[in-house]
Amino acid sequence: MTSKATGSITVTVEGSNKSTTLPLLGGTLGPQVADIRKLYGDLGIFTYDPGYGATASCESTITYIDGDEGVLLYRGYPIEQLAENSDFLEVCYLLLNGELPTNGEYKAFHKGVTYHTMLHEQLRRFYDGFRRDAHPMAIMCGVVGAMAAFYHDNLDINDAEQRRIAAFRLIAKVPTIAAWAYKYSIGQPFLYPRNDLGYAENFLYMLNGVPAEEYVNNPILSRAMDRILILHADHEQNASTSTVRLAGSTGANPFACIAAGIAALWGPAHGGANEAVLKMLAEIGSPENIPQFISEVKDKNSHTKLMGFGHRVYKNFDPRAKIMKETCHEVLAELGIKDEPLLDMAMEMERIALSDDYFIQRKLYPNVDFYSGIILKAMGIPTSMFTVLFAVARTVGWVSQWKELIEDPSQRIGRPRQIYTGAAARDFVPVDKRG
Ligand code: ACO
Repeated sequence: MTSKATGSITVTVEGSNKSTTLPLLGGTLGPQVADIRKLYGDLGIFTYDPGYGATASCESTITYIDGDEGVLLYRGYPIEQLAENSDFLEVCYLLLNGELPTNGEYKAFHKGVTYHTMLHEQLRRFYDGFRRDAHPMAIMCGVVGAMAAFYHDNLDINDAEQRRIAAFRLIAKVPTIAAWAYKYSIGQPFLYPRNDLGYAENFLYMLNGVPAEEYVNNPILSRAMDRILILHADHEQNASTSTVRLAGSTGANPFACIAAGIAALWGPAHGGANEAVLKMLAEIGSPENIPQFISEVKDKNSHTKLMGFGHRVYKNFDPRAKIMKETCHEVLAELGIKDEPLLDMAMEMERIALSDDYFIQRKLYPNVDFYSGIILKAMGIPTSMFTVLFAVARTVGWVSQWKELIEDPSQRIGRPRQIYTGAAARDFVPVDKRG
């Protein structure tokens, strides 16, 4: 991976004769980036960018987003083409290795992943330590983190083969961990993975199957699940991925890094949004209450957000939301759900919001989570599992980004700076002299 020098930018400190010239770098696509690494050395100045909205933290060859044009590419391939023609495991191969697999490579990869789907039997006992009503994301953080204890001593992150095996283990085991978190919460027996099923099929089987009944796969639903996994597989340097990279930059165990990513994903501003969309729709109750809700959202003092709307990067439309909307209709048709009040409300909400100046001016459009919650609900997946499904899908993205980080010779420990606004240096005052 190499960006190219495309020019330079001169920074002059007003009112002084101090200035420096910084290189401008260009990638394959996207805006030029000022390389500010020597800014502090030359001028004694840091840059300030809370939320890192204007800062590139790494070079990456994995995913590209053009937020103004609504473009999302995995390794150069448009998300629409992958969602239409590919399957999740092929996308995993692509994200991890950079190219689509040949037939033989796909088969070997499939075998490699299925070989690792079972959990160490001792991990099963971890579940008993959680309260029955524990949020499954809390269980995910705990159990994925605990995998570090099972695969630490024999894991050298500087060995490419061991990194490859860690990637297989993570991709293969997260559906099992996730499904068991769900089964635990409803008191049903854990189902062991079935390697004769596809990735999405097996996941649905472990979620919905019971030992007492023969499991019947619905190809439309497993295809919808596969598509949801593809759409969520990676999204460049978002909050959870940056968390994985930051943890990974210290040389930490990859399972611990992914657990950190899961924790970051959990928040309602990130992966928790699809769960929040359904809660929001349920609270609104019926379409006639939407205008009142929208005025609340627009009121600065209310702190109410239209969940499933807005994105840090997409300022035109979220290409994943478009595919999700189509999938949503397919799933509802397959399940014979003609009048889904939540979907009707979502459509009405979308219509009102998209014609409202507040949302137009701020370029707020439905994001991927606006529709995914409705699909998952229709498929019978409980709301608390929504973010878990997101974590299952994103694991491959996190692992690919972690692997890229470790293989990048220019990587250093992540360590942002700050503007200190606290007290200036002062002397300690003994307690009897205070006040
Ligand atoms: N509802 C109402 N107003 C909003 C929303 C929203 N969903 N999103 C942003 N705004 C407003 C902000 O209040 C702000 O208004 P102002 O300029 O008058 O102060 C303006 O739009 C810009 O918003 P920012 O907060 O600067 O946008 P940012 O890029 O920081 O946040 C985020 C992006 C976190 C996704 C935000 O839009 C949000 O909270 N959306 C709802 C949660 C959600 O759906 N998250 C899922 C994201 S997709 C994902 O993680 C897969």
